[in-house]
Amino acid sequence: MEALSIQIKVNGHSHRLQTFPNRRLLDILREDLTLTGTKEGCGIGECGACTVLVDGEAVNACLILAPQVDGREILTIEGLSERGSLHPLQQAFIDHFAFQCGFCTPGMLMAAKALLDVNPSPSREEIRQGLAGVLCRCTGYIQIFEAVEDAAQALLETAVSGIEGTAGAAIAQRTEEAR
Ligand code: FES
Ligand code: FES
Repeated sequence: MEALSIQIKVNGHSHRLQTFPNRRLLDILREDLTLTGTKEGCGIGECGACTVLVDGEAVNACLILAPQVDGREILTIEGLSERGSLHPLQQAFIDHFAFQCGFCTPGMLMAAKALLDVNPSPSREEIRQGLAGVLCRCTGYIQIFEAVEDAAQALLETAVSGIEGTAGAAIAQRTEEAR
């Protein structure tokens, strides 16, 4: 089998890699880039433990082959926090004790992020559907759903205060210019 060269951006960092076309995105992340936060459960697209975002869409990294990610942007659990601060989803999972063994948690968090990116205020049923592809053996899901609801609320509040801050700065600047 002939090797191929692919270019991917993972958590904001560009990588050019020599790999084989039958290698899975999961292998590239865990073995080539040592991003072992993404877990392998079933390896056949059933458990969702390997969920990452490819161009913003939640996918099972165990089902995606190297050529399919050439030129794409990938976000893994390692890229979820920003500047050393936990993402509101991560904080909410801690606050709600929304994990036990934690094996499903990276996949659960990435699926939740994909959901909130397109639906910032989901209903309980929409959360249930959005996370349906990730299986948890431990928590019974209720704490997970509650954590996602809290994170959604926190993200909305941050967005509103950001808009208010931006609007306030613009008004202050205009007032200054008018003087
Ligand atoms: S390891 Fe990918 S879906 Fe289970
Ligand atoms: S916390 Fe153990 S599988 Fe979800």
